[in-house]
Amino acid sequence: TVGNPANIFWHENPVRKVEREKLLNQQGCVVWITGLSGSGKSTLACSLGRELQSRGKLSYVLDGDNLRHGLNKNLGFSPESRTENIRRTGKCIHKLSIGEVANLFADAGLICIASLISPYRKDRDACRALLPDKKFIEVFMNMPLQLCEDRDPKGLYKLAREGKIKGFTGIDDPYEPPLNCEIELQLKDGVVPTPHEMAGQVVSYMENEG
Ligand code: PPS
Repeated sequence: TVGNPANIFWHENPVRKVEREKLLNQQGCVVWITGLSGSGKSTLACSLGRELQSRGKLSYVLDGDNLRHGLNKNLGFSPESRTENIRRTGKCIHKLSIGEVANLFADAGLICIASLISPYRKDRDACRALLPDKKFIEVFMNMPLQLCEDRDPKGLYKLAREGKIKGFTGIDDPYEPPLNCEIELQLKDGVVPTPHEMAGQVVSYMENEG
């Protein structure tokens, strides 16, 4: 059963966000990495986290796969489950999901790095809507499907091609590329940039935006 919203109240935290940010000497934000399975999202997330750490900036990675071991372990890959995975409705504590959690991390003053396929545009846009302008940095890992499939680090594309996994993103479930992302990472002269190069591109963007 769900509590009656009329009986649930919002408690204001006496410590303000700007105070937390001052303490940390940084501004809370969300770096949202989206792209196909095998496109290198998790690798970039780790590399970016390391890069920020070395610059004295506090970040935390929310990885889709990892969250599916705990917070989101009751979710599958139907369109409804994926939408639930990215953004659950309401703000009840037991319904928190990644969009909400990323928002809380940013509110705490952290740089939250969320790494999920997040295949549907409307779900990513809903997460963006939780944060004020420039505090949601959408990073699109625009790697060709063929490259991801050739990599197939978990052997899932093979299973999907054999029909043993249904509704696999890019095979028989859609991936909707961002229309207005802040950063698009892609092949350079047919070569995949190194994680260090890609993380550097994201850090440069963040520095330029203050
Ligand atoms: S989503 O679409 O954002 O809810 O997915 P996410 O939480 O990021 O989880 C993606 C990882 O789950 C594995 N997996 C699948 N991916 C896509 N489609 C289907 N049907 C599927 N089933 C399992 C896959 O390993 C994804 O890992 P990554 O890290 O993206 O390669």
